[in-house]
Formats: sequence, C-alpha cells, structure tokens
Amino acid sequence: MATEKSAIFIIFGGSGDLAHRKLYPSLFRLYKSGILKNHFAVIGTARRPWSDDYFRETVITSLKDYFDDDETIMEEFSKHFFYQSHDVNDSEHYIALKNLAAKLDDQFEAGHNRVYYMAIAPRFFGTVAEHLNSEGLKTKDGYNRLVIEKPFGRDLDSACELNGNIAKAFPEDDIYRIDHYLGKEMIQDIPHIRSNNDKFEEALNNKYVSNIQVTLAESLGVEDRGGYYETSGVLRDMVQNHIMQIIGTIASDNPESDDAKLIHQNKSDLFSSLKELAPDEVDSNFIRGQYDTDKLGDAKAYRQEDNVAEDSNIETFVAGKIEFNTKRWSGVPFYVRSGKRLQEKSSRIDIVFNEKVEELGIRPNTVVTLLIEKEDGNSILINGINYKDAGQDFIKFPEEAKFDKAREAYESLIIDILSGNRVHFTLWDELRSTWKYIDTIRESWDAQQPDFPNYLSGSMGPDAAEMLLERNGHSWIWD
Ligand code: BG6
Repeated sequence: MATEKSAIFIIFGGSGDLAHRKLYPSLFRLYKSGILKNHFAVIGTARRPWSDDYFRETVITSLKDYFDDDETIMEEFSKHFFYQSHDVNDSEHYIALKNLAAKLDDQFEAGHNRVYYMAIAPRFFGTVAEHLNSEGLKTKDGYNRLVIEKPFGRDLDSACELNGNIAKAFPEDDIYRIDHYLGKEMIQDIPHIRSNNDKFEEALNNKYVSNIQVTLAESLGVEDRGGYYETSGVLRDMVQNHIMQIIGTIASDNPESDDAKLIHQNKSDLFSSLKELAPDEVDSNFIRGQYDTDKLGDAKAYRQEDNVAEDSNIETFVAGKIEFNTKRWSGVPFYVRSGKRLQEKSSRIDIVFNEKVEELGIRPNTVVTLLIEKEDGNSILINGINYKDAGQDFIKFPEEAKFDKAREAYESLIIDILSGNRVHFTLWDELRSTWKYIDTIRESWDAQQPDFPNYLSGSMGPDAAEMLLERNGHSWIWD
C-alpha cells in the first residue's frame, strides 16, 4: 500500500495548460492511489481573479478529459484546491500566499512541507524564487522544494543567470529541474536493465559498440506553440535536454547503488567529456531542417503556422553526431535526431554492436532497441524482434524493472519530489556542459542562412540526415 505524503503545493501558472494537462491529472492519480489523501492542498496562482469554486470547476473539467471516474471522487479531490490571484512582481501577493499556505497547512495538517511549482513562463522563474525567499514563504519545520519546468535558459549565459538568481533563494539540493523524459518508465528502467544484464553492460563500450542512435520523432507539428518555438527550435527544445539526458542514462557509468549523488556525478562526468565542436566542424556534424507542407499540399508548412514568421529560419528537425572523450566511449558516434511532422511518433534508442561482440557470445552486429514509448510490452527489441522471441538471451527486463506498471512521467516525478529523490532531475552541472555544447551549434547556425523549408511533412526529414551517417559507413536503424 502506498505511503501517504503530505505537502502544500503552490503552483505558479495554476490556470495554465501544463497544470491542466499534466499536473492535475497526475495529482489525481496520486489521490486515487492513496499517495495523496488527507494531508495535502493545492494553491493555484495566476493573474486572473478566480474564485476557489471556479478554479475547482476548471480542474474537474480537465480531469474529465482523461478519466471516466465518478464525479464524486473528482469533487472530493477538488476540495483540496484553492486559488490565489497573484502578480509575480508584487511582494504583498507573496505575503497573502504565505498566509494562505499556513492556514491550509493547519487545516490539512500538511507537515509544513511546501512544493513550489513553476509552471509559468521561464522569464518569471528567477523573480518568483527570489520573492519566495525574501518574503519568507519557506517554512522552518518542513521541506521547501522548488520545481522548475524547462526551458532552463536559452543558452549558457541565460542559464547561468537564471541559476544564479535561483541559487540565491534555494540550495541546489532543494531544486528539482524537470526533464519529463527522466520520468518515463523506460528511461528509469535503463539502470536496472544495465545492472541486471551483465553481458549487455560488458558490451556497452567502444570495443563492442559501433554506434548508438537516439531518435525522438514526432508526427505533430508545433500546433499552438509557434510563438514559443520561434524562440527555441528543436535544438533547444529537445536536444539540449531530453536527448542529452537519454544519452546520459545509457552511456554514463552505471553506479552500483541508487545513490543520487553518485548517479549525477557519473552523468556530469560524461557530459563534461563531450567532444566540443569547433565552429567549422558544426556543419559536418549537425544538420537542420524545417517542415514544409505534405505530399498532397494539405498540411501547413512551419512558416504558415500561427505566430511563426513567414521567413522563419527556426529548425524543426535536427540530426547530429555527438562524441565523448572518455576511455569508454571515445570513437563511438552517438547519432541523434529529433523533428516535428515526421512520419510517425517514435522515441527510441538503437544500440548497434560491432562484430567483436561475438567474443561475449552475442551475435555479431546485433542491434538492441529500447523503445521509450512502450507498445504492447515490446519495449526491448533485438534486431527488430521482441527480446523474448529473439533467440538471444543477453538482455531482458529484470524483475525489479517498473515496466508494465504504467505510471505517467509526471506522476512518477511528483512522487520523487514528495519523497526528496533527485535522481530523475537535472542538476546544474549537467546543464552547464550541455548548454555549452549546444551554444556552438546554435551560434554557427545563426550566422548562416539555411535553405528552408527542406522536408515534407510526413517524411523522415531532410536527406542530409541520411548522408550524415552514410559518411561514416552507418545508417539509421529506424528508417
Ligand atoms: C517537450 C517539448 O519537452 O517534449 C515538445 O517542448 C515535445 O515540443 C515534447 O512535443 C515531446 O514529449 P513526449 O513525451 O510527447 O515525447
């Protein structure tokens, strides 16, 4: 039976899309499973003046999109929700928030624990964190955890500045930077898979691996997020965070314990050994694309999307080759790619072994695929076949892997926040190295005029993505 947790959540951006699509449904699941029960309350804040009742109605309306539970349980749950109109720059408003949180803490006996959740525009992250500190919202007897959504900065300089502001108000150990990919089950299972499959782990290095491929492909376009995307592009939106963290999980040394500090240290060591690109190496290692209409001319091209400039040079596709200067991985290309409006949605890691792997009793040139989005339990494939049927037994799901227990990424991350477990969050050191790497690419691209659009919606992206691998005698496994 789940252990009940107690906390007051203060959600900045409580009327927003993220809160309604991800946070409230996840909190509701935790409520149904008993992890949240009697000792919690949620204060939603945003500028608009709403009543508690109206806020609760909006929460219930969102829940109905995801659940078909009886409305009574949704209503019971919504009684834990309160609304406070809030201007992030107004000190008085923080005092009001502090008083409300204290009152609810008494009412629900929430143990003086606070979760401050930044589901607002990134430009407010620093201001809010500073005010939480200066207006004395932090409690003395419980924990005070700050949760920050991405993007964490838009380059190394802005990330440093943001981090500086936040660090003045919260110690690093109380900061939970969300990368929702780290909440996905397959990503969380990878360390278990590695430590339970000796031969597989023994093969994960430059002696036996030819290359590793990470693909995060999406079939949707930018939808209603054109404005945000224009400031981001897929390099910042997916590579700096999700793709890097996936690589960190599969390629960092696998520690023998679940100790968060050790796990992060290993990841940080890996990222600090990223083989940096010189400006004149960018074009031969990274290529970009932007979607056009589809074959029939029916779909909107990126440049026709709402809030997108007609001559936008923002990339919606990226493919690249990343390398590391470590004893374990030097010489092994990590090919990465991500894009919008591709043929289908697929998130996967393909590990391509070489011929020498036969020494370990694994068939030469075997490809192991870890599917991040699970489909019918076929989430490890060997040469394209479910590992159970593949006739090679060097890799399988260990007993303790959480696979099949189906928790949403956000649900699992919120449990971690409530438990003080920082394993599945991004630490500052990691961000610093990855931003530094990404900045070189961004700067080089910003200085050149791309020939956009250059791929059809519904395709596999621009041809240059194929050529990138062909130059090294490799090819994409997912094609
Ligand atoms: C988000 C990006 O972080 O991840 C989106 O901002 C992207 O642009 C999304 O669509 C993809 O996440 P998932 O879990 O649907 O693969």
